Amino acid sequence: MELKDAIFNRRSIRKYRSQNVEKNVLVELVKFGMYAPSARNTRSWHFYIISDREKLNEVAEKHPYAKMLKSAGAAILVCGDKSIEPMEGYLALNCANACENIMLGALESGLGTCWIAVYPREERIKLISEIFSLPEHHLPIALLAVGYPDEEKGMPERFEENKITFIE
Ligand SMILES: Cc1cc2nc3c(=O)[nH]c(=O)nc-3n(C[C@H](O)[C@H](O)[C@H](O)COP(=O)(O)O)c2cc1C
Repeated sequence: MELKDAIFNRRSIRKYRSQNVEKNVLVELVKFGMYAPSARNTRSWHFYIISDREKLNEVAEKHPYAKMLKSAGAAILVCGDKSIEPMEGYLALNCANACENIMLGALESGLGTCWIAVYPREERIKLISEIFSLPEHHLPIALLAVGYPDEEKGMPERFEENKITFIE
């Protein structure tokens, strides 16, 4: 798949086929994440690969916008590592870059993804930290649902020339 096709065609997938995602494929997605740019190249992230069905269902029930986890084969929890980078802003930016790499890279394997918001909402940080018993230095930024899509979405028109200023 060409990179521009991945960029234009990536959509949030919220319906998945009941098919497990192989562990080696999930590790490859995390590897994509680890190649994202990070401030001062700190790579201040930590990834949890989650295939525990009970945990996925628990998040689906307790998080207000995570129902798709009931059908997703797995999820990747992207955390900032406060022991590496103390500034939360950088943790969030670095992890967001990793998330985008994972979501685009997933398309190559025929997988769909959906970002489930955690950071910066305190109640969701607490919820996810408790469900996955995170150590204090792991700040959950985003949970990515991953699975084989059971819905098709087209490429939307999003080019907005009025949002560009040329300085020449
Ligand atoms: C920071 C962030 C938080 C998001 N949180 C959620 C969420 O909690 N649940 C959800 O279903 N989608 C969530 N999304 C996905 C957006 O709704 C989606 O990206 C947006 O509507 C554009 O659609 P597309 O991803 O199909 O292009 C989130 C996306 C981002 C970047």
